[in-house]
Amino acid sequence: MGQGQKKADRAWREAMTIHLDVNGMMAAMLGEAGIQEDTFAALQPRLQAADAALQHARQSGTLPFYDLPYQNISGVQALAESVRQECDALVVLGIGGSALGTRALARALLPPFSVQTPVLHVADNIDPASFGALLDSLDLSRTIFNVISKSGETAETMAQFLIVRQLLQEKLGAGAVRQRIIVTTDATSGYLRPLVDREGWRDLIIPAGVGGRFSVFAPVGLFPTAVAGINIEELLAGAAWMDTRCRGTEVWQNPALLFAALQFVAAKPILVMMPYSDALAEVSEWFCQLWAESLGKERDRQGRIVHTGQTPVRALGTTDQHSQVQLYTEGPNDKVLVFLRVTDPERELTIPESYPEVEGLHYLSGAGLGALLRHEQRATEIALAKKGRMSCTFTLPVVNAFTLGQLLYLLEVATAIAGELYDVNAFDQPGVEEGKHLTYGMMGRAGFAEKDAEVRAWEEKRQGRFVV
Ligand code: PA5
Repeated sequence: MGQGQKKADRAWREAMTIHLDVNGMMAAMLGEAGIQEDTFAALQPRLQAADAALQHARQSGTLPFYDLPYQNISGVQALAESVRQECDALVVLGIGGSALGTRALARALLPPFSVQTPVLHVADNIDPASFGALLDSLDLSRTIFNVISKSGETAETMAQFLIVRQLLQEKLGAGAVRQRIIVTTDATSGYLRPLVDREGWRDLIIPAGVGGRFSVFAPVGLFPTAVAGINIEELLAGAAWMDTRCRGTEVWQNPALLFAALQFVAAKPILVMMPYSDALAEVSEWFCQLWAESLGKERDRQGRIVHTGQTPVRALGTTDQHSQVQLYTEGPNDKVLVFLRVTDPERELTIPESYPEVEGLHYLSGAGLGALLRHEQRATEIALAKKGRMSCTFTLPVVNAFTLGQLLYLLEVATAIAGELYDVNAFDQPGVEEGKHLTYGMMGRAGFAEKDAEVRAWEEKRQGRFVV
């Protein structure tokens, strides 16, 4: 790349940089209800310790999610290109971290309301009504299923996979299973790996040490979105660009550190993520899982009971102004609103001049619908501030793969930092295991008979009482 090209590239990146505006959390704007700027000086030792721990983990290879933006993606791209020719529909079978990143990217980066080919379906839930209807709607001879499971034993994904496998066998013959199933799983562990090796399915690897909710930049998120036509190179370039910004312990230079530190200092029990953009609606779904599963913990790393974690909530602007904002403005002052705002939406619609005599309508004449959306976001932020309610705003210049890469990477790094500040392991999820084991018991899985007995004991407690 020549000097001129490099400069142009750099200028484009600068113009595409996302920003975090935290005025709505600071005392300068909120008065007593806000955070004083010198709080960060007092917090410095903790921030330095958090940064040192994470940098050590990154360098020693125990947190490989950090370096996913720099992986070689030629294999993923080649497979995606070939699959694009082979199918009209790609169906992801996966749940939680194996699904939400793909959903967020697809919603943000694929054209809304258009049926493009190949169409991407993310079948994360197991409601037989909707999953059955999806299967009925597919031309199986032009469909590829991407089974994504790190553990290879998630009941929902495995159940879907077994149904699909049988369906393919019945409708298209045994050979079709080999052509129509691509598995994304761990390189060595889990129940899927030996099946992949035995059956000869095409596969992609989830790198060791990359957990589900930190895997959007692994083949988990990259492959299906590449098949759907998303520019994954630009996505990773955005993540890498954010990586260069999320370094060091100076909060005003590191947006991930600033975000995590502010949530920690604010100590509000609830975080509401509220995009003012339909395209970003599922980013908040993805973020809620990341923040909840990583930080919601019974014990800290010393084993002490702490019951920590901020409850993440999804809302959508402006829709939820007419549903939730009354509560956020006047109900308990226990929330931080996190707005997502797009400066320059791809499309604007002008509201036509009409009814000059009707003042209640005329002020809209000639204004843009996007401008109305952005004004409403600011108005909500100020209305909250007037009541001493905290908010901060991520601003994306536009919605594209580069800005999405930045946003998701920043939120992942912020989650890791928050884990350090709360002193919890952000990378495990012991609280979801018990429910899984009780399910195994009820479904008759070998080795879980005592869980089935436990369920029966609980069912007896019901005794048909307290039900109307
Ligand atoms: O973030 C996580 O680790 C979880 O949400 C997992 O992604 C989810 O439980 C699915 O797990 P698996 O990929 O093993 O099927």
